[in-house]
Amino acid sequence: MSEPAPKRDVVRKIEKLREEIRRHEHLYYVLDKPEIGDAEYDALMNELKKLEAAHPELVTPDSPTQRVGGKPAEGFKKAQHSRPMLSLDNAYNADELADWDRRVHELAGALPVEYTAELKLDGLSVALSYQPGPDPNSDSGARLTMGLTRGDGQTGEDVTSNIRTIRSIPLSISAAKLKKARLPQSIEVRGEVVMPEAAFQRLNEERESEGLPAFVNPRNSAAGTLRTLEPSIVANRRLVFFAYFLLVDGEYFAAGQTATLDTLTTLGFRVNPHRHLVSTVDEMMKFIDKAESQRATLGYEIDGVVLKVDAHATQQRLGYTGRAPRWAIAYKFTAKAGITQVKDITVQVGRTGKLTPVAELAPVFIGGTTVSRATLHNADFILGLGLRIGDYVKVERGGDVIPKVVEVIEDADHPRGNREFSFPLVCPECHSKVVREEGEADYRCVNANCPAKLRETLLHFAHRGVMNIEGLGEAVVQQLLDRGLVRSVADLYALTEEQLVGLDRFAEKSARALLEQIAGSKRAGLARVLMGLGIRFVGERTAELLAQEFGNIDDLMNANAEQLERVEEVGPRISQAILEFFSTAANQALVKSLKDAGVDMTAEKKQRSAQLAGLTFVLTGTLPTLTRDEAKQKIEAAGGKTAGSVSKKTSYVVAGEEAGSKLDKARELKIPEIDEAGLLALLAGQAPSN
Ligand code: IVH
Repeated sequence: MSEPAPKRDVVRKIEKLREEIRRHEHLYYVLDKPEIGDAEYDALMNELKKLEAAHPELVTPDSPTQRVGGKPAEGFKKAQHSRPMLSLDNAYNADELADWDRRVHELAGALPVEYTAELKLDGLSVALSYQPGPDPNSDSGARLTMGLTRGDGQTGEDVTSNIRTIRSIPLSISAAKLKKARLPQSIEVRGEVVMPEAAFQRLNEERESEGLPAFVNPRNSAAGTLRTLEPSIVANRRLVFFAYFLLVDGEYFAAGQTATLDTLTTLGFRVNPHRHLVSTVDEMMKFIDKAESQRATLGYEIDGVVLKVDAHATQQRLGYTGRAPRWAIAYKFTAKAGITQVKDITVQVGRTGKLTPVAELAPVFIGGTTVSRATLHNADFILGLGLRIGDYVKVERGGDVIPKVVEVIEDADHPRGNREFSFPLVCPECHSKVVREEGEADYRCVNANCPAKLRETLLHFAHRGVMNIEGLGEAVVQQLLDRGLVRSVADLYALTEEQLVGLDRFAEKSARALLEQIAGSKRAGLARVLMGLGIRFVGERTAELLAQEFGNIDDLMNANAEQLERVEEVGPRISQAILEFFSTAANQALVKSLKDAGVDMTAEKKQRSAQLAGLTFVLTGTLPTLTRDEAKQKIEAAGGKTAGSVSKKTSYVVAGEEAGSKLDKARELKIPEIDEAGLLALLAGQAPSN
């Protein structure tokens, strides 16, 4: 084995890699302008992880490898804000803005009055503290030391471990940047954590396929995520931080709001690009109208516009009321809503047999479209609203397009309805029994052959994100079922032109086009097929991970629980569902017919995790929770090797209770010694703590 490179070189190499990775993270997560692809980024990260694993003493908390770290042992601690996090007064129209503008001018006297107009992001505010690095005299910049939620405004919850996983938040700010901005090494940055709509949708799809209740909106979802006790989950949820305040010694940055936003940008924070300096109410309204028209395409939710007096001196002159600054105001968009009558409540049967009640509404025009139906989710939702058929309800459409029934209206013009809704005892489609399992919110149809399930399964199979068969919509599927042409998704591949030409509005050309689409779907690959099969709890991401792990359907079908659970994010509940699915004869036959039809059920196998590649471990003594075999398996699964005896080639000795002579030998050879926790840390991509 070659001599280890001189320490100086390693230090330099590690620093260079970190700088490079930070630059790419900034390009990707802050500027939205990546220069390299995921694979290249992963390669840089893996190189750094390997070097750090070999030199654990060089790991620093602001290394890009250290975003997902230890979890808080028992809940979050509370901490005091350096300065209260206030809230804002609201305005709902131009008149109210004009009143506010007048008051500002009166109080400002001769001081300048201009306003920064910013978007009001619909998330939750957090405060980030940056403090000097380990050696305050060495001018080494500032490190993120704490992230606090707003809490009651005076004290917040210390959610640092979760905040660190948000990639648009720098873990450190270099001394050079601070110097350039004439800032000390202790600063505080405040802003909004939001969940982008795409991340929100993905999360809810996943939750739905896992049988978990969906989050109501991105803000709740972001709030729930920040309070999750497992940082690795937070890291997966793709939260974004937009910075809007900078505090020095508990005081707002003295150069004013525009300079604050510019400085935050130079420091590497993501600052919302939609902002403007305005002076008059007309200009405010122009910005507001523009924001409202951009609202649907921003990719994250906003609920208004915030106007802030720009000059710091004027801000100070205006001061504060008890709960809000006089120098800022929130203009709130009014939710688009309408009142209409619930004509009926119908029940839909989904692919899994789940029964969903739907409000059939008297058509009402809300925010540009006519709404005539809205989901009522489940029996508890109806109970919560106290809804009866014939009631008038308020229907809202927020930033997203989905209409929501928010409340029952009762006044002189809107009398209460008089028909109670009771959940059907039999399936509306096949009249089989419906059941509600204990602790579950939903009723389900018990009939495995319910035609509604088959219809929804076919529609799901054909769906864009799944096998992507264009032209196989509801009308066509219904006819195929009515004529007995398909009894399972595999039958789609046996359809002929003659059969299709017989359907309503089908000519030769459209029949051929559909057949081509069906044939094309054979190449969708294993992950899509797995989604298409509709295995409970297996959504897009899980299907993708399973496909990458097993590479083909046979290996997946032959896997046992332990092998399944080696896949990231697969726990006992999901592995059980997969095992159950493939254990039924009908499903085995379905897979076989799909295979016989020529459907590709392979995927590119992902290289096994190489977290520990190149490292050799020697196990000695009894570990507190892992057996010797389990530890060995984990090491090997991560690309590492295990050996029976200590030599110069040993990278680590993992020592437990009553470790014997191997440990003495390791000490003699100065081989790093770690315990079980250290091993688990290495496996998680962190530096071991001992
Ligand atoms: S400034 C003194 N700027 O809105 C507190 N707040 O209704 C001033 N918000 O708690 C906050 N976008 O969570 C400010 N560009 C923005 C904002 C913003 C969203 C939130 C924030 C605040 C709430 C007040």
